[in-house]
Amino acid sequence: MNADIIALVALVSIALFVVGLKRLSRIRTARSGNALIAGGMLLAVVLTLVEQGRIDWRWILGGLAVGSAVGILIVVRAQATQMPEIVARFNGFGGAASALVALSLFWGVVIEPVSADTAFAALGATAALTAVLSVIIGAVTMSGSVLAELKLRGTLDGSPRIPVRTLLMGLAVLTALGAGLVAIGSVDETVAMLAVIGLVIASILVGVILVVPIGGADMPVVISLLNSFSGLAAAAAGFALSNPLLIIAGTVVGAAGLILTQIMCVAMNRSLLNVMIGGFGGAVEADTSDYVSITSSDAEEAAMVLEIAESVVIVPGYGLAQARAQTAAYDVAKALQQLGVNVRFAIHPVAGRMPGHMNVVLAEAEVPYEMLFEMDQINQDLPQTDVVIVVGANDVVNPAANTQPNSPIAGMPILDVAGARRVFVIKRSLSPGYAGIKNELFDMDNTTMLFGDAKKILDELAAELQKAAKR
Ligand code: TAP
Repeated sequence: MNADIIALVALVSIALFVVGLKRLSRIRTARSGNALIAGGMLLAVVLTLVEQGRIDWRWILGGLAVGSAVGILIVVRAQATQMPEIVARFNGFGGAASALVALSLFWGVVIEPVSADTAFAALGATAALTAVLSVIIGAVTMSGSVLAELKLRGTLDGSPRIPVRTLLMGLAVLTALGAGLVAIGSVDETVAMLAVIGLVIASILVGVILVVPIGGADMPVVISLLNSFSGLAAAAAGFALSNPLLIIAGTVVGAAGLILTQIMCVAMNRSLLNVMIGGFGGAVEADTSDYVSITSSDAEEAAMVLEIAESVVIVPGYGLAQARAQTAAYDVAKALQQLGVNVRFAIHPVAGRMPGHMNVVLAEAEVPYEMLFEMDQINQDLPQTDVVIVVGANDVVNPAANTQPNSPIAGMPILDVAGARRVFVIKRSLSPGYAGIKNELFDMDNTTMLFGDAKKILDELAAELQKAAKR
């Protein structure tokens, strides 16, 4: 293909990434931003395949058809509530794709050698070393994301401790690096092939050792870290292929993921170093002793309190997403506004099961962005708030984070709803949240439980408040 055309298509692709990323920063434009980035990525992949000139266009079309079919099938079959698991799976696919791209480089020099050179000599130092890195990071991302998906789905319960984890992790990393160096440095095809297999297995093990012992409430950090890894693997594959587009796209994802990891670390009050060397939560025994003074009520009574409130804060959590109750929550907010109440939504950075989960579900219900307040913005107002309605949230409002130094969520900044004049908690039972611990909030004098499915209770509340607004 003509070099000018290649450069032009690459430029269009990069422009699509940049404009798409800009649009992702606002909820209203995020959907079109996503589409632009997907279009840019499609252009980049096809351009790379055509530019390399090694592959027939029928294979490209076949790959597009199979990839699209798998993507459509996954998304069509999945419930909206499974979004966090799907995001984790796609993250894993990204890592696997980069590892496969890097492995394909070994094919030409190890499996079907065209010369007697080592991979190092045939590919050059940069390509050979970054190919090894891409396989390692890509395989870690893949195995880590598979485990993250199983944990988010609840198929893999708990966070079993791995004895001498740091030692095992060190051994696995060294084995992967060693096998990678043998793979690129050996002239013997069999040795090189065995080394490539060892490289893949050891890298997969690194991902397993990294994610298996991670405790409930610390999952946000590892999810964003894996997101960053998927980008770094792609960037390394870009260096291995000398493909600037892949380097740019991978670096952007890697950097964005690192920023997100930092945000999640702050949200969980963990340092990144602590995370990297294995300081994830889950080691502490959770306090599951019984509650002593639970007060419960129903929607009708709660509506009577809400009608006379001046300020109400709604705190959405994972249960709201699970119950698909976002529209019902907005209906409650609109009914309260008709009654002249100041209503705001308080968003905790790790509420739900994926970064930005609550923003996404509330945007789906078209809750205006201006009604959403970050934890830092709203915490100072909570003591002056008349009523807080906690909808399917648990860990993110659990005072144990401040009062129980041995709690798995100790030190995690929370939405301090206990200080509000009145708190209604909507959930189906007294079961714990993701961290598996008792919530002192439920036992407090100013808390009233509204037991039931979040959507059902919110629908009832909205109906009562709408009646009151008409009176
Ligand atoms: P959780 O602490 O997980 O609590 C959710 C609550 O929702 C549960 O206690 C559950 O109680 C209730 N619930 C579930 N289905 C419901 C329904 N249909 N109707 C009403 N209530 C329902 O949620 P959270 O407060 O949002 O905290 C998030 C937790 O997940 C944190 O520990 C966080 O670290 C972790 N995590 C976050 C992420 C990211 S990136 N955000 C990723 C992985 C893990 P009942 O069963 O009694 O109804």
